[in-house]
Amino acid sequence: MRIAISTGGGDAPGLNAVIRAIVLSAHTRGWQTYGIRRGYGGLLGDDGIMTLTPEKVRGITHLGGTILGTTNRGNPFRWVVRDASGNDVEVDRSDELIAAFSASGFDALITIGGDGSLKIGYDLWRKGLMVVGVPKTIDNDVPGTLATFGFDTAVATATDAIDKLHSTTESHERVMVVELMGRDAGWIALHSGIAASADVILIPEIPFDIEKVCDKVRAREQAGRHFSMVVVGEGARPHDGGIVLLERRAAGTVDRLGGIGSLVARAISERTGKETRSLVLGHLQRGGSPTTFDRLLGLRFGAAAVRAVADGAFGVMIGYNPPVINRVPMEQVIGKSKHVPLDSDTVLTARELGISLGD
Ligand code: F6P
Repeated sequence: MRIAISTGGGDAPGLNAVIRAIVLSAHTRGWQTYGIRRGYGGLLGDDGIMTLTPEKVRGITHLGGTILGTTNRGNPFRWVVRDASGNDVEVDRSDELIAAFSASGFDALITIGGDGSLKIGYDLWRKGLMVVGVPKTIDNDVPGTLATFGFDTAVATATDAIDKLHSTTESHERVMVVELMGRDAGWIALHSGIAASADVILIPEIPFDIEKVCDKVRAREQAGRHFSMVVVGEGARPHDGGIVLLERRAAGTVDRLGGIGSLVARAISERTGKETRSLVLGHLQRGGSPTTFDRLLGLRFGAAAVRAVADGAFGVMIGYNPPVINRVPMEQVIGKSKHVPLDSDTVLTARELGISLGD
């Protein structure tokens, strides 16, 4: 059996743990593993395929990033090329990719990805490839699994950052607004905001009223708490406005979210008169060494993916649904997003702790 691995899309801490577990679990069965470089680029004339042996994956569990490299512009169904007039246009190279896959003698593909990469994997499965998906994203927005690897590390990084900002914010008696990643899902903002004792948490699932946010800042002021910590998910939006984008979608990419933090900071400053600063934590949340939880989850996902290949179970995604690691049909996952449920105990906990959710 020859298994190919793809790690396309945005990286997430724990990816190397998944790769290592796949390689070692396959090796235990006497199978070979190959890494497709840069998403699917390695099969489409880019610089290649890496043969992955136990030696090649030694000592990588704790490393962030992916040893295979990645890109979020590598969709074989919407490959970007420059036409004669110099414009970027998308072409479908999926047949070429499938031909290259067969020519390389691969039997199965394990695709480790978020919504975009899992959709590519699903479409390749529908075209005949033997595909198993592994859910990866710091955003934790993939349905069919309680957690994706990378999320716990991102939350730990964000919590640590908010902790650090607390002291300077309090010393200067300011309002600090921290913008966190997560796209349309508020998992990172909600979990790190609660863990780091934020005063206000704004998430995409709950459109906010800026006046309610300012009420919280004013109430703290009156109670002698002359500083406030406001955590904002990048996809959060006011009840009377839309999502804020940093950049509109260009060929082969998705919209880049960003900017809501500074808008909220300016509005708070104007309405309350408080000195306000904002900070975008950005890609720090995607970097660094995975937490113990993410390492273990990644290793369990990788081993489970090879187990699925051994059982001939394809068109499935590996899920973490305690107490089990299970297989979820990919069609139940594709095109959907897992949002923070408004009646979840985490949301209730935030409210009961007196944290304003801006509504
Ligand atoms: O999906 C993961 C994620 O980090 C999002 O939270 C964020 O909006 C996006 O990727 C950033 O993408 P890029 O690395 O292309 O800027």
